Amino acid sequence: METLVSPSLLSADFLHLYKDIEMINNSEADYIHMDIMDGVFVPNISFGFPIIEAIRSKTDKIFDCHLMIARPEEYVERFCNVGCDMVSFHIEATNHADRVIQIIKNSGKKAGIVLNPQTSIESVKYLLPKLDYVLIMTVNPGFGGQKFIPEMLEKIEELAKIREEKGYSFLIQVDGGVNVETSKLCRDKGADLLVCGSFLFGAEDKEKILGELLR
Ligand code: DX5
Ligand code: ZN
Repeated sequence: METLVSPSLLSADFLHLYKDIEMINNSEADYIHMDIMDGVFVPNISFGFPIIEAIRSKTDKIFDCHLMIARPEEYVERFCNVGCDMVSFHIEATNHADRVIQIIKNSGKKAGIVLNPQTSIESVKYLLPKLDYVLIMTVNPGFGGQKFIPEMLEKIEELAKIREEKGYSFLIQVDGGVNVETSKLCRDKGADLLVCGSFLFGAEDKEKILGELLR
């Protein structure tokens, strides 16, 4: 299966955001990953609706929205309405995961669930048939630039195995510490969509790095 890359805006230059959007527009990447942090579910605060709306008018790329917020059921519809094409939320952040999936799907968007490093696949077992993607965190959520947790490779492999056995169609997304080296390891285990933040935006030649990751 083709491996896809989703550049994470969290590591972009916020003072010259349009420049980074243009770089993505001119690249072969199909996605833009948007990390939404509320200072409650994770110990950091990022950006919200006005930024997403502003970017929406400047690109046709697929908006891949990663909600790191408590009680996603209260906000998820708004994220769909401001132009996100796919929305993922953390299973640890809600008691109403099935409802959140329904809201996303009713808005005509793709629904994903995110697992923190400590969270087992077992906890989302009954939701897997309904999901468009599952995001395996390979760092603790909240910050860019952290080190890839190698034990998560086994989790990716386990998820890919369940998908094959049951004939499910969800994509496997990986987020955190992705670089040229770790992206290959994840791909080998069955990951389809790789989020990349600091490694990409910290590079001198971003287009080149993106090309390498997409290959
Ligand atoms: C972390 C975010 C990531 C972050 C990844 O909580 O979910 O999307 O931007 O950044 P890197 O690629 O630097 O680990
Ligand atoms: Zn993310």
